[in-house]
Amino acid sequence: MALLVFDSGIGGLGVVAALNQLTPGLPLSYLADNGFFPYGEKPDEILLPHILNVLGTAIAREQPDAVVIACNTASTIALPALRAAFALPFIGCVPPIKPAAAASRSRTIGVLATAATVRRPYLNGLIAQFAPDCRVLSLGTPALAELAEQKFRGAEVDVSTAVAPLFKQPGGAEIDAIALGCTHYTFLLPELQALRPQISWHDPALPVARQTLKIIAPLSLSPAPRRAHFTGETLPPALLAPFALSS
Ligand code: DGL
Repeated sequence: MALLVFDSGIGGLGVVAALNQLTPGLPLSYLADNGFFPYGEKPDEILLPHILNVLGTAIAREQPDAVVIACNTASTIALPALRAAFALPFIGCVPPIKPAAAASRSRTIGVLATAATVRRPYLNGLIAQFAPDCRVLSLGTPALAELAEQKFRGAEVDVSTAVAPLFKQPGGAEIDAIALGCTHYTFLLPELQALRPQISWHDPALPVARQTLKIIAPLSLSPAPRRAHFTGETLPPALLAPFALSS
């Protein structure tokens, strides 16, 4: 078939939107494991076998040519195991520490992500590699992904309480660039920018889409219906239509 884009909920739809922007009509399907949302609050030893199982079923059904793990929480724990288990290209998604560090003049940057992503050694590796001279303040919170899910369904949301603890940390007032380490936050970008317009916010959706197109360039994807699959509640057609997906 085509490309399979995977997340625990609506977050990966930001990557789908970026793919649509760069290459409209790309044959792809979307899998939201929203029956197990939020990933960020689950222990690693439960999450890893669960992701392998859910994706294994989807891969057997869809026969994709490549898979985008459009979820930082899943990427930071499951990419090596997925690559070992399935002979397919996997494109992952990690907090955009590199562009945030490049944009920072104060050399104090922030990372907003799920609790699971923040506690993983993977994040320390990215910081050591791409921001060794920066003070990096991070906040792992379940609230923002949940707010993104609510906003996606039409609710008005207030992000100020959820992000306040990031700026209350020592040095927090000096943060001038923030890496969004959870794909759900793409949908909160307008609220986050409005809250702190002086900060340079870094969302990975477009870079992940670019990387995906680079990886799949040599593959010839066959035409396929653009479907979204859900392990929990199915989103109504009106919410999927802007992404050129149907359920
Ligand atoms: N979208 C997921 C990520 O990028 C996280 C949301 C969740 O906690 O399930 O990390």
